[in-house]
Amino acid sequence: MTRPIDRRSFVKATAATIAAASAMGVFSPNASGARTVAARGRREIRVGVIGCGGRGTGAAGNALEASTAVRIVALGDLFADRITKAQTQLAGFGDRATVAASQCFTGFDAYQGVIAVPCDYVILATPPGFRPIHFAAAIAAGRNAFVEKPVAVDPTGIRTMLATSAEADAKGLRVAAGTQRRHEWSYLEAMQRIKEGAIGRVVAARVFWNMGSLWNVAPDAARSDVENQIRNWLYHTWLSGDHIVEQHVHNIDIANWAMGSHPVRCIAVGGRQVRTDTKAFGHVFDHFAVDYEYACVDGSTGSRFALSMARQQDGTAGRVEEVIYGSTGVARLSSGSARITAESAEKSWTFNGPNNNPYVQVHIDLQKAIIDSTPLNETTQVATSTMSAIMGRMAAYSGAEITWDDALANPMNLMPPSLQFGPLQQAPVAIPGASAIPSSQ
Ligand SMILES: NC(=O)c1ccc[n+]([C@@H]2O[C@H](COP(=O)([O-])OP(=O)(O)OC[C@H]3O[C@@H](n4cnc5c(N)ncnc54)[C@H](O)[C@@H]3O)[C@@H](O)[C@H]2O)c1
Repeated sequence: MTRPIDRRSFVKATAATIAAASAMGVFSPNASGARTVAARGRREIRVGVIGCGGRGTGAAGNALEASTAVRIVALGDLFADRITKAQTQLAGFGDRATVAASQCFTGFDAYQGVIAVPCDYVILATPPGFRPIHFAAAIAAGRNAFVEKPVAVDPTGIRTMLATSAEADAKGLRVAAGTQRRHEWSYLEAMQRIKEGAIGRVVAARVFWNMGSLWNVAPDAARSDVENQIRNWLYHTWLSGDHIVEQHVHNIDIANWAMGSHPVRCIAVGGRQVRTDTKAFGHVFDHFAVDYEYACVDGSTGSRFALSMARQQDGTAGRVEEVIYGSTGVARLSSGSARITAESAEKSWTFNGPNNNPYVQVHIDLQKAIIDSTPLNETTQVATSTMSAIMGRMAAYSGAEITWDDALANPMNLMPPSLQFGPLQQAPVAIPGASAIPSSQ
């Protein structure tokens, strides 16, 4: 992964790296002039996709942009209509994204069909409730993987992800995650400056994903409960983890990155004031605020914290950013923008580009790691940030204060015991103070 040192040497280093890589035939420019990775000594880089919705299709396009050697060799989705739509959207890539009907798989076991097709890596982009199952199967089969965030919706799923991550390491497999800020130059350079002491000791953060509403799919009486819930997956915690996990994990990940660890304890508030129609919006909340406490370097608690706020309510003020506070300065970060205001003027800094496309960069980094046989496994990082978000949700749903150790050890497993189309009662809206943590969602 490209890690800038300072703006000037970074630009020089990047240019030098690209020039050297181009000379070695590792990078090649694509039509838009972006730098891409080419398969050194390989005819092609074969990619399978599991979950062919908006992001699965988008990630397949990003993989294809990352290298002209990439070929999509298998597509899997629960629903045939999503595969058809993905093929239409990828048609511009021509033969490289044309997948024979025999390599397209549907149904709950579609992932097994994709994983069985020989490939260099699989993209896992279904709703996150399925991620631990699909990831475990991919790693068991010896596949490298790109795993979309979040990577689970409950502590049971997180434990599966962590165990499977260790298995991936043992097998020398590579895994990149959809927390793409970790591959974005503005974030990388800002975070490097923070780690080098630009704002002193990191003591606090405020992280936000406040916005209006997202899409929803109205239930169809001709479909089973399970199909209706999966088509409207954002609004069912067993599938999405709720929006604090599904979306806000990006910002919580930045707090963890800056703090250099995960929270040890949290309290939270949350509820639903606007999205109250349970048919359209299931049972999830429409706002959360969490107070996360982090341990100090000496292990004591109480003096490092992050405030996290996530809201999906139309007509309200939007804000997606992270503000990191140190003992001698402040860093303000968002996609493509970073500014450090430090007590010492020479440590103050504003990112002024060039920036990269992190959605493509993460595939460039994964493909290079696979081709060059260098280590890359982001599973623990993304699982830790996902668990931090789950812990915030558990605190908000229950109203209880919860520690990291208790949350991670919690037996909660939200996956229905039998996965098939049929009846499935929708979970109730959690009531803080009345929804106990072990049984709550
Ligand atoms: N990194 C980012 O910035 C980013 C952006 C958007 C979405 N995402 C993540 O990507 C994932 C997918 O989100 P999306 O926006 O593409 O949703 P989507 O609804 O557009 O796509 C999900 C697809 O998965 C399919 N699916 C559902 N259950 C399945 C199963 N058991 N097996 C196979 N296929 C199944 C659905 O039919 C659908 O086609 C989520 O985890 C989401 O949080 C990440």
